[in-house]
Formats: sequence, structure tokens, C-alpha cells
Amino acid sequence: MNTLYYGDNLDIMREFIGDETVDLIYLDPPFNSNRAYSQIFRDEKGNYPPSQIKAFDDTWRWGEESEIILDELRSPKYPPQLIQTLEGFKKILDNSDLMAYLTMMTIRLFEMKRVMKDTASIYLHCDPTASHYLKVVMDQVFGVKNFRSEIIWSLETVSGYKSQANKWIRCHDTILYYLKTDKFTFNKEYLPHKEEYIARFKKKDKDGRLYRDDRPGKRKQYLDETPGRMLGDVWNDIMSFQQASTLEERLGYPTQKPEALLERIIKASSNEGDLVLDPFCGSGTTATVAHKLNRLYTSMDLSEQYVEAARQRIAEAEGLPIEGESDWTEHAEDELRWLYSENKAPFKQLKASPMLLALFTSKLNDRLRRSVPYTPQEVLGQLRKMERFCKLNAQLSDRVNSI
Ligand SMILES: C[S@@+](CC[C@H](N)C(=O)[O-])C[C@H]1O[C@@H](n2cnc3c(N)ncnc32)[C@H](O)[C@@H]1O
Repeated sequence: MNTLYYGDNLDIMREFIGDETVDLIYLDPPFNSNRAYSQIFRDEKGNYPPSQIKAFDDTWRWGEESEIILDELRSPKYPPQLIQTLEGFKKILDNSDLMAYLTMMTIRLFEMKRVMKDTASIYLHCDPTASHYLKVVMDQVFGVKNFRSEIIWSLETVSGYKSQANKWIRCHDTILYYLKTDKFTFNKEYLPHKEEYIARFKKKDKDGRLYRDDRPGKRKQYLDETPGRMLGDVWNDIMSFQQASTLEERLGYPTQKPEALLERIIKASSNEGDLVLDPFCGSGTTATVAHKLNRLYTSMDLSEQYVEAARQRIAEAEGLPIEGESDWTEHAEDELRWLYSENKAPFKQLKASPMLLALFTSKLNDRLRRSVPYTPQEVLGQLRKMERFCKLNAQLSDRVNSI
């Protein structure tokens, strides 16, 4: 089932993504606090939504949320090496933004491992600001033996404001590739041969096939039998939007990744019909490419505006309805708010009990008499969304916040 979720990926994975259901994960978390903050969208009045400020603070600033995660990681549910790693980092990083970031990433990576099938792969896109710490975290979550490659996505050109810096200019990103176990999908990919290589095949047989037989002791080699240039772990053939700012797929979001990058990863590490998860989906590149390659997708983002951008982009690519997104008219929102205020069960209980949630949903559907009733998942998603945007009344909002 194709799904696009709005909300914190940790909550969503815990609530909606089953154990061992995903074939491939690509994640591109924001890894530089200044840049992450610049991704916060303003609302129509030009203000930053408080929910997003809070969400970004929780990610980037050391605070109560980080302490809560550290405490949680001390529980026996988690392998002890996770908390040991973070405690080690804390000795050197103290209560820094980077420490907050690594803490929030560790618990999410553990959740990602849970949802991965044994045959699944994970690609973590990052940059040198945090890649060396993240690799240690990945080693602890997935196991050193499941490390596969550190891929360098070379951005080649050094241009624009970057070239002003008085240092070796950073012109690559790092993608850490890990497996869950040693049973995995990998479809080798090749680049077209270079002209110099093709020129070595000087002879043509009666069918017009090019070949060479000039290598002593080696058999005749046909050009069409050589699959192409093997791809290594340095990728310099995929342009970033800095290099190719006029590419049609470019939507203008600062962190949008090119479809060719996702195409390479998805083709290599999944097969048609497989499920691809992107927990930090931004403008929806992964889901769009997954769909184009006949894979299924599950994507999520904390920013309402990014989810909307992704929804539109995916809808354009596929022309299909998207689960988890539904039309909530003002009337439907009002009824939901009223029903919630009359309801004895707080949000936490609705979330924890499928039976209560189903009952609540059926009451709402009775009131609304919609031809297509809301699903419990849509109702829960809408309640959470209304809470974030302070659309539940103050008293209710407190109840939700206190969970
Ligand atoms: C670097 S961008 C991803 C860009 C994406 N790869 C693309 O091609 O458009 C990171 C995204 O992560 C989202 N994000 C940050 N923290 C999150 C969280 N806890 N849960 C879900 N999404 C989150 C941000 O809203 C942002 O859109």
C-alpha cells in the first residue's frame, strides 16, 4: 500500500509500520542545524508555526526530549551498546546540538531496523558534519559486519558562494549503506562504456557485432557481451541541483535530491513490488521514483508543507489516491473536535486501543454520513495534525500534549 504520512517519523513508524515489512530505506535527515531551521516554512501570515519550531528544537537542541530518549535507550528493550555509544559521545560532545541530533537519530535508526525485512538495505544520506558519528551509531544499530559501503556522491563543481571559503571546498555528500543481515537484494548497475574503451573493439563480424581479439591468451571478446563500466563507491555522474539548476524536476526546495540518485539506489537494492520507506521524505523524491520504478512506498515528514509538496508531486507522477491523506472539510474538523471533547478517552487511549479508535471513528462517520467513511488511521492522523496546529481547543490540546 502506498502511504504518505504527516508527523514525526518515530511516532509514525511505531504506530503504523509493522515489523519486518520494508525492503529498502533511504533517509536524508537534516544534518546541519542552521540549514534545518531554514527548512521551516512560514504560514500564510508569515509566522513560523509553533509546532514546527518545537519539532526542530526537539531535534537540534539538547533538552528534555533528548534526556527522555537517553532514558528510554537505557531500558532492556534496546541493546546496551546504543546507550553506551551515546554516553561515550556525551563525554565529548556534552549537551551540544550535535549530541541532540545523534540522540534523536539513534532511536529512529533502531526503529528503522525493526521495520526492515531480513533482506532489506538502508542508505543514510549525510555530510561530513556528522557522518563519522553516524557511522559509529549505524555500526552499533546494524552491526559492523553489516556495513557495506560508504558512498561518496561527488558534486564535482565548486561554484557560487561555496567557492569563497578559504579551505578545501566540500563538494561531496556521504551515503552510508548498511544491510540488516547477509541475505540481501543487490542488482548490479553499470555505466555506459567510455568512448576510448569502445574504440578498442575494432573488428566487426558478419552480423555487425563489434569485437576484439588482440589480447594474447584471451578469447575473442564482443562489446555487447560486456555489461558496461562497474559502478564504484564514488558517484560523480549524478548532477546536483547546484550543477543543474534548470532540471525540470527541480521544485526549488533547498534539500531536494535528484531523482537519478534515488533511481540508482532503488534499482540496486530493491525489486519491482518491493516497499521503499523514506522517513524524512521532504519533497517526496523517494516516493516519486519508487512509484516510477514500480515499487511501493511509505514516506513521512514532519512539515505539513513538505508533505503537501510531496503529495502533489506523487499525485502528479501517479494519478492515484494516497492513503493517509484525506479531505477534511471545516465541517468534518468541527465534528471531530466536538466528538473528541465529548469523548471520555484521551488521545493516548485512542492511540493505544484499536477498538476504542474504531468506535470513535464509527461515531464520527455516523455523524458525518460520508459516502466514503474515514479510516481510523485518517482520524488519528487528523487529531494529531489538529493538535500540532493548535486547532483542538486549549483544554484538549493540553490533554494531547501531556501524553
Ligand atoms: C533534507 S530534507 C529531505 C529532502 C528529500 N530527500 C528530498 O529530496 O526532498 C529532511 C526532511 O526531514 C524532515 N524531518 C525532520 N525531522 C523529522 C522527523 N522527526 N520526522 C519526520 N520528518 C522529519 C524535514 O521536515 C525535512 O523535510
